Amino acid sequence: MGLHNVTVAGATGLVGRKICQVLEERKFPVGEISFLASERSVGTKVSFGGKVHPVQVLTADAFRGAGIVFFAAGSSVTTEMVPHAVRAGGVVIDNSSAYRMKEDVPLVVPEVNRHMIFHHKGIIANPNCSTIQMVVPLKPLHDHYSISRIVVTTFQSVTGAGYAGMRQLEQESARENPAVAKFPHPIALNILPHVDLFADDGYTREEHKMVRETKKIMEDDSIRVQATCTRVPVLGGHSESVNIAFEKEFDLDDVRGILRDAPGVVVQDDPAASLYPMPLSAREKDAVFVGRIRRDETIANGLSLWIVSDNLRKGAATNAIQIAEELIKGR
Ligand SMILES: NC(=O)c1ccc[n+]([C@@H]2O[C@H](COP(=O)([O-])OP(=O)(O)OC[C@H]3O[C@@H](n4cnc5c(N)ncnc54)[C@H](OP(=O)(O)O)[C@@H]3O)[C@@H](O)[C@H]2O)c1
Repeated sequence: MGLHNVTVAGATGLVGRKICQVLEERKFPVGEISFLASERSVGTKVSFGGKVHPVQVLTADAFRGAGIVFFAAGSSVTTEMVPHAVRAGGVVIDNSSAYRMKEDVPLVVPEVNRHMIFHHKGIIANPNCSTIQMVVPLKPLHDHYSISRIVVTTFQSVTGAGYAGMRQLEQESARENPAVAKFPHPIALNILPHVDLFADDGYTREEHKMVRETKKIMEDDSIRVQATCTRVPVLGGHSESVNIAFEKEFDLDDVRGILRDAPGVVVQDDPAASLYPMPLSAREKDAVFVGRIRRDETIANGLSLWIVSDNLRKGAATNAIQIAEELIKGR
């Protein structure tokens, strides 16, 4: 297999570091590799492939010879820098929300819409972490029973807010004053019904992302989605309570079988043994874990699920690297 030049932009952040770790774990065929971040990180080193690499500053001319370029930085610097990476001949796989809803940018979860990878024009967007873990188990159920409506409440790890969010929880838990307050309230021993900025309609941008991205990835605008996103003092991953209304009748055992066979899904559902997905047990795993599978008797064809996944892995780094693997494998 040929080797591919790789750039990681945002290499010092939680997602960028996880991308480096997962590239090594999965033995991605890396040729030259470079690591980019802001001027704050000049002097920082990254160990990769048995060598120590300096972090370079993310500038317009940092992409010479680019192959696959993973972006894991904020939306504004991403919007500014991605066109330079594409002009230099790179294919960008972007973790930010900057390009996700652009019509000519595929938004990809390989288990769900792998075919869209090959429609890229230099940019492929990695979806929002909460959306990725929801659509992996829901797509095969949609194919069988046709989902008409989803009500989801998320319980999102502080790692979803980057390094500063994780540090705030660690420092508050150690009863230190946080150096940087990432959240508008204490997060230790608390829950904030607030992820990303509020929009004028009373929903947050995170909730809007879950609605819009689900329709785009599932390629079905008719699915109605209602989301409430919360931040919880947890490190290992995001959890979601998901309630679904199907068009068609279903058998609960068949649903379990479909989920057991679904790529990327692990069913953990044995209430008698207290077996169900949790962020502590999902941490550092690539799967999407599904449990508490039960009928909702209050609506026609209703199903409730509990879904957990490590947001830094399947919700970000692993999904991005799976896209790159499929890209180089070809159609
Ligand atoms: N965390 C998650 O679970 C998750 C999941 C899916 C998607 N995402 C998205 O992935 C991206 C990165 O998230 P994260 O959690 O890794 O955040 P993070 O820990 O705060 O890391 C941000 C990274 O971006 C770099 N950066 C910031 N401003 C920059 C600038 N002006 N120029 C160059 N580099 C700059 C930082 O470099 P310095 O260290 O030099 O500041 C750092 O490497 C965000 O768009 C986020 O929305 C995150």
